[in-house]
Amino acid sequence: MTTHASIEKVKPFDVAEARKDFPVLFQKVYPGSKGGKLLIYFDNAATSQKPQVVIDALVDYYSTYNANIHRGVHYLSQKASQAFDEVREKVRAFINAESEKEIIFTKGTTESINLVASSYGRKYIGAGDEIVITAMEHHSNIVPWQLLCEEKQAVLKVIPMNDSGELLMSEFEKLLSPKTKFISVVHTSNSLGTINPVKEIIRAAHQHGIPVLVDGAQAVAHEVIDVQELDCDFFVFSGHKMFGPTGTGCLYGKQALLEAMPPYQGGGEMIQSVSFEKTTYNALPYKFEAGTPNVADVIAFGTAIDYLGALDRERVSKYELGLMQYASDQLEKINGVKLIGTAKKKAGIVSFVIDGVNALDAGMYLDTRGVAVRTGHHCTEPVMKRFNIPGTLRASFMFYNTKEEIDVLIDGVRKAISLLEKK
Ligand SMILES: Cc1ncc(COP(=O)(O)O)c(C=O)c1O
Repeated sequence: MTTHASIEKVKPFDVAEARKDFPVLFQKVYPGSKGGKLLIYFDNAATSQKPQVVIDALVDYYSTYNANIHRGVHYLSQKASQAFDEVREKVRAFINAESEKEIIFTKGTTESINLVASSYGRKYIGAGDEIVITAMEHHSNIVPWQLLCEEKQAVLKVIPMNDSGELLMSEFEKLLSPKTKFISVVHTSNSLGTINPVKEIIRAAHQHGIPVLVDGAQAVAHEVIDVQELDCDFFVFSGHKMFGPTGTGCLYGKQALLEAMPPYQGGGEMIQSVSFEKTTYNALPYKFEAGTPNVADVIAFGTAIDYLGALDRERVSKYELGLMQYASDQLEKINGVKLIGTAKKKAGIVSFVIDGVNALDAGMYLDTRGVAVRTGHHCTEPVMKRFNIPGTLRASFMFYNTKEEIDVLIDGVRKAISLLEKK
């Protein structure tokens, strides 16, 4: 029996109850120092914590049916293969893709983007062609395109943003031309929290016949995604940001595009037949999945999808936005604190700087109080450059966080200012 069977079908949302699912939250950090501090985890945009059912799914796999999949005739291999294959259907349903053939398992968002840039990009992008991204991309949605542009003498174009961290859509329209061959945009910015109008971007792009990739890394855990409704050509995300294990993720691609794309990596599983004279490739999705896949983690990723699916997504999402709003309001009351990223449409991410206090020093101080925030450029150096700052402090929320935890953050920020401010 797989552990996800124990998840109730409809789970009423209750923070105290929800927190019980995440054992890591009930610990004290730095236990050696005066008994330690209760962990307050506000680094959810980097990676989410894992519910016990996901941890159990990993233990269950390794303790009872660890085996390589698809080519084994024995019991364990059949059981592992079935559990693995079931996850593809779960992912398909989770993002409402049309077919399982459109779901490629990857290590995560980064690998998914590299796959598209290498495979689609090498085939379809040529000298002088233009690829459009936004000013708020994670490095993983910049560098793969730069590598491609370097190789093909193509040009990278960037949709600018305003001081609130919102894309300038009129500038976007101006960037589109017959030279534009691909658009790759982040759904929700990890450093600003901005939720971009991806549907509008896709609609405009398609009027010019341009395919669009959506980086959904920060979106999938927080809002319901329907790739058919979005009509995106590619959608990418990571399992570890949505309660699954690290090393899991997905590339969704429209079937016709994936069919036309050459393989990304060569090896076992992705072939139909190999000879020294000629090798033929496997059908979708296996054509893009060379080698032994990450069996255990993908199975537990399936459990994470079950877990998410059992939540009242709308209520959870509203609750997370409430946390973001509360944190923003409290931070804005503190003299010297400035929010970076004040878009009208935002996710549960709050980035801020403090006058006269280095973000890293403040982050380290907060850590001594048990508050885990992230500091720095958050893999979005161009965003920092745009706002003319070296980095921010970032608190990113998940439904297992509480207002009381935010109060500890706010108190910590006030204390950090009184201790660290350079007059
Ligand atoms: C918006 C965005 N895109 C891409 C990534 C890269 O994800 P991964 O490191 O899981 O591949 C991240 C990670 O923080 C992200 O926030």
